[in-house]
Amino acid sequence: MSGRIPRQFIDDLLVRVDIVDLVDTHVPLKKAGNNFVARCPFHNEKTPSFSVNRTRQMYHCFGCGASGNAISFLMDYSHLGFVEAVEDLAAFVGVDVPREEAGDFVSADKEDASRLYSVLEAVQLFYAEQLRSEEGQVAVTYLKERGVSGEIARDFGLGYAPKSWDALVSRFDRQSLVDAGMLVVREDGKVYDRFRGRLMFPIRDKRSRVIGFGGRVLDDSLPKYLNSPETSVFSKGKELYGLCELLQKKTKPGRILIVEGYMDVIALAQYGVDNAVAALGTATSKAQLDLLFRFAPELVLCFDGDNAGRQAAWKAAEASLPCLRDGRQVKIMLLPQGQDPDSLIRAEGLSGFQARVNDADVLSDYFFDYLAGESDLATIEGRSQLMALAKPHLEKIPAGFFRDMMWRRLSEITAARIMDVPQKKATLKPSQAKKTSLQRPSLVRRVLALLIQYPNLQQVVSRQGLSLDRFEFAGRDLLVDVLQTIALEKPENAAMLLEVYRGSTNEKTVTVLAGMVLDVPDGGEEAEFSGALMQLLRQARQEQLSGLLAKESREGLGFEEKQLLRTLLKERL
Ligand code: GTP
Ligand code: MN
Repeated sequence: MSGRIPRQFIDDLLVRVDIVDLVDTHVPLKKAGNNFVARCPFHNEKTPSFSVNRTRQMYHCFGCGASGNAISFLMDYSHLGFVEAVEDLAAFVGVDVPREEAGDFVSADKEDASRLYSVLEAVQLFYAEQLRSEEGQVAVTYLKERGVSGEIARDFGLGYAPKSWDALVSRFDRQSLVDAGMLVVREDGKVYDRFRGRLMFPIRDKRSRVIGFGGRVLDDSLPKYLNSPETSVFSKGKELYGLCELLQKKTKPGRILIVEGYMDVIALAQYGVDNAVAALGTATSKAQLDLLFRFAPELVLCFDGDNAGRQAAWKAAEASLPCLRDGRQVKIMLLPQGQDPDSLIRAEGLSGFQARVNDADVLSDYFFDYLAGESDLATIEGRSQLMALAKPHLEKIPAGFFRDMMWRRLSEITAARIMDVPQKKATLKPSQAKKTSLQRPSLVRRVLALLIQYPNLQQVVSRQGLSLDRFEFAGRDLLVDVLQTIALEKPENAAMLLEVYRGSTNEKTVTVLAGMVLDVPDGGEEAEFSGALMQLLRQARQEQLSGLLAKESREGLGFEEKQLLRTLLKERL
């Protein structure tokens, strides 16, 4: 399906749905005061610290800090992408999702996709059945020789494509098979089965729908593997083999291993490592890494120790940089020459393999080792070359602690002073926080949290005609941004405001603040907000004033500083 979902629709959807009803269908809630509570679905706990608030239309867990609105809940709870979550939410309230520009094609697309899913599902069942046929015994023997049990074969839905040219054509709808990539269409228009005499690996998406196949020969003939071509339901750079099977066993795996081959995933599962997936014969893409990061905070990239493997590892590490928000981690595991995970786990057993995984290089070490290998760090030229090589990569990392640490590491290695560490517009920048000596995180946070949880409070600021621009305090930029956003988008509650910030650098901060506990008596928000805001501004003014006055007596002030001093002295707060 193409076409953007109109913003207005998302706003309407959030007004229509009640997050309490939505969450309750997945996690039964109990009323407790103004909130509804349950044991948190996002971490293990004995006593309930997960709470859902009807006014704000947000949930928050005091235990693990998870928080968000109805859309976030579906994304996290059901492992959905944003669009999928909106679709599910729309289905929950019983409306269709409109698309901008896509027009009439939308429902046709949808029908088409479900036609492909059903033929692929039927083909998968057919291939699996063939393992019980007489001809299929070659595949069964092959699996046994490679040590794959019947149980694992069943878990992964393995099958056998008979040698016939028309096993599929003679059984299923021809056009659907063509569209699903299961047939080869010759120039003269004749068709034949793409997969013949092969062990078949069905590829499923994370919603368990069969979207394509990989097929391996049972002898030494070539090509060893054949894969479904790209179709309207199968896009190799976005899917991962084994993800669906992994999620059926574990919804929160903690760590996911990315390996190269189908048989690596299968062999690992056979030995009890059920958190491995494989990229589908293509380089690991950012889209795939982002998908995996939805399920686990740590990804381990396993590659062969040969030259090709090393190159693939570097490419994957590079692709992962833009995904590395704080809290996410990538590790690199290079295998000994000539081994793959399949052969290695057979040779070293589960514990040997696990030990290697635990020993995998963290990305920061791997990254600098790899680049340092290309330059001679004993010379200034080599160090500046390293700087030049590393810089464009580090710039891809999202703003945050990890990014700062990588820059610091680079400056240590090159022994250079980085005067100007580029920083994307962050929210509560540590550098900024340091500048104002007396930190008031609690006060700024309280002002922000009140504003985010009760967006109507923006009017307090606009009514008083307050301009925050001349004040300097940590978090000012975010506060100004939230005020402008509310004035512009007019969200009715925190949930709707959060939607505006989704995908922006401030999303995480806004989400956390939306979940912060404030203990404000009903109806007392405005007084509380004005009070906290004034206190904040007064303190900021006081600090700026003392700074300026001290400077004046020390060395005198410049023209602009004098102006500012005058303005601040006049300010009545
Ligand atoms: P075996 O252990 O020999 O069954 O294979 P493997 O799982 O070790 O795979 P290998 O390391 O040879 O290749 C890794 C992945 O690359 C496979 O899982 C396939 O996705 C892909 N691949 C390998 N050989 C071919 C081929 O001949 N054609 C295509 N299209 N892909 C291949
Ligand atoms: Mn192999």
